[in-house]
Amino acid sequence: MRVGVLTGGGDCPGLNAVIRAVVRRGVKEFGFEFVGFRDGWRGPLEGVTMPLGIEQCRGILPRGGTILGSSRTNPFAVEGGVERITANLAAAGVDALVAIGGEDTLGVATKLSEQGVPVVGVPKTIDNDLSGTDFTFGFDTAVNIATEAIDRLHTTAESHHRVLVVEVMGRHAGWIALHAGMAGGASEVLIPEQPFDIDAVCARVETRFQTQYAPIIVVSEGAVPADGTGMTMQSGEKDAFGHVRLGGIGDRLAKEIEDRTGKEARAVVLGHVQRGGTPTAFDRWLATRFGLQAIGAVADVEYGVMVALRGTDIVRVPLSEGTGELKLVGPSEYAEAQVFFG
Ligand code: F6P
Repeated sequence: MRVGVLTGGGDCPGLNAVIRAVVRRGVKEFGFEFVGFRDGWRGPLEGVTMPLGIEQCRGILPRGGTILGSSRTNPFAVEGGVERITANLAAAGVDALVAIGGEDTLGVATKLSEQGVPVVGVPKTIDNDLSGTDFTFGFDTAVNIATEAIDRLHTTAESHHRVLVVEVMGRHAGWIALHAGMAGGASEVLIPEQPFDIDAVCARVETRFQTQYAPIIVVSEGAVPADGTGMTMQSGEKDAFGHVRLGGIGDRLAKEIEDRTGKEARAVVLGHVQRGGTPTAFDRWLATRFGLQAIGAVADVEYGVMVALRGTDIVRVPLSEGTGELKLVGPSEYAEAQVFFG
């Protein structure tokens, strides 16, 4: 059996740990051969491959990024894309494919699987918003990076009696903001699921200063002010790749707070630092278990599934479960954090 492996979408700490586990178990236990497809779906679409075996996987467990490269290529947006993929898989002698990616990558995998391509999915995103699994690898690393940043910002905020606004990733879901905000003792967490009231935020900023502590406000990149509060969002502009830029909510929030309260405010945008570098032990462990189970599914000739964490078990669920509705922060989870606001 010859198995193709690809990683698609935004990179994520732990991708290499998945690749390593897939290859190690595949070679040692099942005697499989492997081929790496470069840059997500671009690899099978254009027939761009690289050698992949135990040798290529040596030393990659703690390395961030992906040795296979990644892209957001969507073969369904390309004329004849599906036919080109099936032809290139056949040309590479591939019997099965392991696709590691988020909503978009697994969405393509789901459609290809419906058209008979033998594919197994592995879910990934630092945002932790895929509904089919309790956690995705990469999330824990992102939360730890954001928490360390918050810890550091407390001391400089207090020394200068400033408001510090920390913008974290999360276009649709506020999981990183919520977990890092709680772990880092933030005085406010603003998430996309709950439009915020700028008057209430400013009132809590004032209260916080009365207790001699400087406010740390953690805001998801996708958070928006509620209508009618007088704080207007610039509409998202698209960059050259069609990705919506939300216009820097952190910067605009800091300016708005400064204008309204007269307190000095600064914004820190953590951006891609949350996605780079070495994965935490938890993410390595989860990614490794996902990889072991994904190649197990291939060995069982069980296609059209993705691996998922349910409690402490790694299970196989239909691929479509990873691409259904996003898993968002619920009102009760958000309410729990609000005890610490202000
Ligand atoms: O989905 C993962 C993610 O890191 C989001 O949190 C973020 O909005 C987006 O990717 C950034 O994408 P890009 O790397 O294309 O700018």
